Amino acid sequence: MPTLGEFTARQLRGLCEVAGLGEQDARTYQDVLVEALGPEAGRRLDLPPSGRTFLSDDHTPVEYSLSFRPDGAPDLRVLLEPGCGSGTLEENGRAGLDTVRAMSRRWGFSAAWLDKVEDLFLPASPHGPLALWCALELRPGGVPRVKVYLNPAARGPARAAETLREALERLGLPQAFAALPPGDGYPFLALDLGDWEQPRVKVYVRHPGLPAAEAGELPRTADGPTAAELRHFAATAAGTTDGDARLSGLPVLSCHVFTDAAADRPSGFTLHVPVRDYARHDGEALDRAVALLGRHGMDPAPLLRALPSLTGRRPRDGVGLIAYLALAHQRGLPPRITVYLSAEAYSVRPPTG
Ligand code: TRP
Repeated sequence: MPTLGEFTARQLRGLCEVAGLGEQDARTYQDVLVEALGPEAGRRLDLPPSGRTFLSDDHTPVEYSLSFRPDGAPDLRVLLEPGCGSGTLEENGRAGLDTVRAMSRRWGFSAAWLDKVEDLFLPASPHGPLALWCALELRPGGVPRVKVYLNPAARGPARAAETLREALERLGLPQAFAALPPGDGYPFLALDLGDWEQPRVKVYVRHPGLPAAEAGELPRTADGPTAAELRHFAATAAGTTDGDARLSGLPVLSCHVFTDAAADRPSGFTLHVPVRDYARHDGEALDRAVALLGRHGMDPAPLLRALPSLTGRRPRDGVGLIAYLALAHQRGLPPRITVYLSAEAYSVRPPTG
């Protein structure tokens, strides 16, 4: 029986190949992943997961994503919970901070943004459901770009808006909070920490029961996909042709990207649809992903090649391998589609219907 580290490192090797990363980079990133998981990496998979992370449905503390563009291979990212083996959420957050700080020393990037808001998101007795996640963008050269995900409800859900507003002010974005669309809570604040051309602060908003037709009203950017394009994306990903249909399963999330202190608007927007809750099996989710990639001029071949490196099962024999489909816009760049892929290290959700 493999360990979590062995299992996910093997998946990552296949994904690196799909993303056009060389042997050397693949080996480096396998080690980076295993190290970031800490002692949990050595846990055998016949034992249950040691925590109940909601990073993925089966509590694997790792999720992959492929971010497609109109030309060239997709970018590969891996989301993980460094503190997943900790007994309490407070320890989990500490372990996460230690891991991110070790990365900042190793790769020489500044963690100043994290220092500025640490007390807001990692208080002494944090509320859940998460303390700190990190995502690594695995670019060629063996030095990833790093993002950190924090929980605006860490000081209690009733204080989430206040916490977020205070954090945005400290990050030099006093106008950002007022620019967010209405929604039902803020699941994440994400900070770019690595060597980014233009580091971003990203705020996620939850939209339970959103009619697909209203997806077009969520962005607050000056440009980007049209409302019709967003409606089409939401409806297709959720498998409905009825624009009035409410997406009443797991909520759609919108993400608002702030890069520019002087601006009163975000510079980027992403629509995240949890396709796994709107499909009977992954065959359906995959068909929708392929259709959406094709419509936006992106080659679906890397996605088709990626799935066998994750699992030996057929897509139609489970649901959840494809967790989310997202349409992303960033000012000045062509749109991207991101496909989030589960590790399924512990279990596969059976198909429904
Ligand atoms: N599993 C969680 C969720 O479904 C968190 C999460 C993992 C997530 N990957 C994501 C959220 C991608 C948005 C996009 O909400």
